[in-house]
Amino acid sequence: MRTDAQASRPVLVLTRHLPDAVEARAARDYDARLNPEDKALSGTDIAARAQGADGVLCSAGDRLDADAIKALPDSVRILATFSVGTDHIDLNAAKARGLVVTNTPDVLTDATADIALLLMLGAARRASEGERMIRAGAWTGWTPTQLLGTHLGGKRLGIIGMGRIGQAVARRARAFGMTIHYSNRKRLPAELEEGAVFHADPEAMLAVSDVLSLHFPATPETRHWLNAARIEKLPPGAVVVNTARGTVVDDEALIAALKTGRIAAAGLDVFENEPNLHPGYRGLENAFLLPHLGSATVETRNAMGFKALDNLDAFFAGAEPPDRVV
Ligand code: DGY
Repeated sequence: MRTDAQASRPVLVLTRHLPDAVEARAARDYDARLNPEDKALSGTDIAARAQGADGVLCSAGDRLDADAIKALPDSVRILATFSVGTDHIDLNAAKARGLVVTNTPDVLTDATADIALLLMLGAARRASEGERMIRAGAWTGWTPTQLLGTHLGGKRLGIIGMGRIGQAVARRARAFGMTIHYSNRKRLPAELEEGAVFHADPEAMLAVSDVLSLHFPATPETRHWLNAARIEKLPPGAVVVNTARGTVVDDEALIAALKTGRIAAAGLDVFENEPNLHPGYRGLENAFLLPHLGSATVETRNAMGFKALDNLDAFFAGAEPPDRVV
């Protein structure tokens, strides 16, 4: 039998299947509408599931554009996204509608920085080529010139966007003997810079980026930021790493540069139009590709879910959610 306390719990729609511990907490504290089959929902589907709901716990793959936000019932007052990125939500439409939007910063910093280093090493050391060779039964044994890659030690790493994740990447890359250059809207204080060389103009940093790692948000202004002209400014044979968002790279330009070897290798975890990435990447031996695994550890995904719930709890308790974006 439902108690009064249970009946008065806010109704919360979870658009995707979340880790068990997160769903258990959501079901304990909310009248939770789960998605156990983990069916990808369109904006219209989300609006339909949200009839009579008080809040929506959405995820990075959901498309909450202006139409989807308009379609949400008036009862919905908060969108808590299970992601640090908010580019899947039309924030202006949410604001105009009076919706509160929260995200999950901090907790995925280390996991994402780890994946950036995995991509850097995987791309520079030709890891997926080697793996494919073994799986195809094509490895005939060690040879002195087989799959020679590029050493990271002694190379210059250019980081664009020196927020939490950029700084965590810098710390890891130092351990590999890389020299750190960075560009950011604001210069960091010396204790956070840790000797990294600041470039006020990201364009000027490209020429010294043997490895370029992108860590800035996807916005209309940053769409296709890494284009053919900027690729030309990188040193010949540079390595490009992207754990930010796919839209910040012009795929046609990067694929062309990977084909000619102008860019030696790319390590990519994110793509424009995920999961339908540009087909040109699939045939490229020098592209090390991962399916958006940046935050994919049990610990991190639990922490992201708990953070989203912390924001919802604060909101429904009448307090300011700690990670309010809108
Ligand atoms: C995010 O949180 O924005 C990631 O891309 C998904 O973990």
